[in-house]
Amino acid sequence: MKEKGRGGPSNLVKKHCSVKKDAQENMSSFSELPTVKADAAFTLLAAYKTDTNQNKVDLCPGFYRDENGRPWILSSVIQAKERVHADPKVNHEHLPLAGHAELLRQSKELVFRKEDRDLKRVASIQTVSGTGANHLAALFLSTELNPKTVWFPNLGWINHTEIWKLAGSHVQQKFYPYFNGENQNIDFDAMVEVLQEAQKGDVVVLHACAHNPTGVDLSKEQWDTLATVCKNIGLFPVFDLAYQGLASGDIGQDASAIISFFDRGDLEFAVAQSYSKIFGLYGERIGMLHIAALDVTAAAKITPVLIQLSRAEITSCPSYGARIISQILGDLSLYDQWLEDLATMNNRMKTMRESLYHSLLVKRVRGSWDHILTDTGMFSMTGLSTTQVTAVREKHHIYMLPSGRISVTGLTTHNVDHVVAALEDILGTY
Ligand SMILES: Cc1ncc(COP(=O)(O)O)c(C=O)c1O
Repeated sequence: MKEKGRGGPSNLVKKHCSVKKDAQENMSSFSELPTVKADAAFTLLAAYKTDTNQNKVDLCPGFYRDENGRPWILSSVIQAKERVHADPKVNHEHLPLAGHAELLRQSKELVFRKEDRDLKRVASIQTVSGTGANHLAALFLSTELNPKTVWFPNLGWINHTEIWKLAGSHVQQKFYPYFNGENQNIDFDAMVEVLQEAQKGDVVVLHACAHNPTGVDLSKEQWDTLATVCKNIGLFPVFDLAYQGLASGDIGQDASAIISFFDRGDLEFAVAQSYSKIFGLYGERIGMLHIAALDVTAAAKITPVLIQLSRAEITSCPSYGARIISQILGDLSLYDQWLEDLATMNNRMKTMRESLYHSLLVKRVRGSWDHILTDTGMFSMTGLSTTQVTAVREKHHIYMLPSGRISVTGLTTHNVDHVVAALEDILGTY
């Protein structure tokens, strides 16, 4: 007699386990993934590193470079690191879910300044640098505010749109006019006019200072008008603050737009704060997200929601850089040293701007260059077309972003003549 359950697979099992033709070909589940365009800035950086030409110049980086074109470690950071290493209480436990407690307090004060402001109206959480702060803002706002549209400046930081695509995929993206390439200035009337199309609850992304990529910021009057526009329409502003102290050179002045929005008392907004550039701590990934609410009760409700979102993504933030910055912000002599470090960076950028400008004028290089002197921060637009950017790279080994943006931190007294000669070759003279 034939035993039950023996004698090979049933027809049902055979049906489900039969090897299909596709599977026989062993196709990956990911073979149909779309081709992703490589990141322009990081691709150029890699190309620059492998370029063996002696005269190569990297004008791409959004990182500070010293007078020899090398990364620079701030003196205040060197001293703070020593203190962190010598502290027997420092261990490798997690930071609390909201971040380094002392740095949270210090960061709020750095942005909103102490004076008599009620900083309990501000909900803050540590983030994975400025990118992480923008990401968490997008995640929080896209779910809790549910905006129809997020508005970005044209031109702007290319990662903002990518971040919102990822963290707020149901939110449509639109651009408001910002930079007028013809006069190298802000088209403020057009900006305000287009923002009238926005709806209550929409998000508007703003660069608090040292606008990337143009180096052109709004004036005090323009910020005041914009605050009223935001209030009248019901827009929710997100300030990107990646260069506090590297625009005007004064940390209070560089946060003045944020402070004026706060002091009105009738606006809610977010601040995505990055510590990468202003402390030269790029790899440590330190930042903060602040949400300024209308009242203390609302702020107290926001914090746990931010913590919940952050917990699901990263649990807690990197601790090392947070400890270094907290040392600096909490010690008068280190703080003064940091202000000196900021001055060193600002003075070098200013000197290189002047040097580039004068050399372009002496050589009578075609173009309008006055803005090189007045732009703030690391960046300026050259007005070069994408084709000219390619030509200047292929012929002269000078690297800049396809938009024609340069970072003045890539200029040194050794390479500025070569850069101007290359621009003369590509653009011609008067
Ligand atoms: C305008 C702006 N926002 C945010 C960032 C984010 O910087 P990070 O994530 O390195 O702090 C940058 C860096 O280039 C930037 O230019």
